[in-house]
Amino acid sequence: MKFFLDTANVDEIKKYAELGLVDGVTTNPTLVAKERRDFYEVVKEICEIVDGPVSAEVISTDAEGMVKEARELAKISDNIVIKIPMTKDGMKAVKILSAEGIKTNVTLVFSPLQALLAAKAGATYVSPFVGRLDDIGHVGMKLVEDVVKIYKNYDIKTEVIVASVRHPWHVLEAAKIGADIATIPPSVMDKLFNHPLTDIGLERFLKDWDNYLKTRKE
Ligand code: E4P
Repeated sequence: MKFFLDTANVDEIKKYAELGLVDGVTTNPTLVAKERRDFYEVVKEICEIVDGPVSAEVISTDAEGMVKEARELAKISDNIVIKIPMTKDGMKAVKILSAEGIKTNVTLVFSPLQALLAAKAGATYVSPFVGRLDDIGHVGMKLVEDVVKIYKNYDIKTEVIVASVRHPWHVLEAAKIGADIATIPPSVMDKLFNHPLTDIGLERFLKDWDNYLKTRKE
């Protein structure tokens, strides 16, 4: 499973890129707004750090506006993927952009049928939002299971990005289900490293090594 980093923070992206953990990046208007920087400048900088796909979201809600924005964003780099909301106008835009060879990521997907529509429109990626479904008492990962199954049934090439990831369990389940990608916030990425037995084990190894060195000196 590929790991995308779900942030517009360049320092965080650099940090995890150095660890070889960033296969791509996803941003959204909320994440970009947090950075208080120029949108185009941030996206360009991210594309310079990361070789993989970098999702940048359109703000327009009409198909014509979305396509116009997408064409401008696509000029930034070959890595750019245009994030388009799951609406009728959005799917119209996806169809036009896919015919032009511009990659798209259909966002705000909350049902398997929305994911099927996105694939039929020609989306490169689809982003089911698991955390936001959990928040309203649904089981977000069930959506991912359904989307992966439907895409498999029809040999659909659209890749599934598990989005709105809130904790390591979402990442684990995404991998078990066989989702193509999980887009992970830096805070969750950090938690993937942790296990108390690793810390205890390392402490023990170092202590034993220290004792061994002492006995050798005696
Ligand atoms: C990524 O593509 C999504 O925009 C992001 O994962 C949404 O996450 P949130 O539900 O935590 O805002």
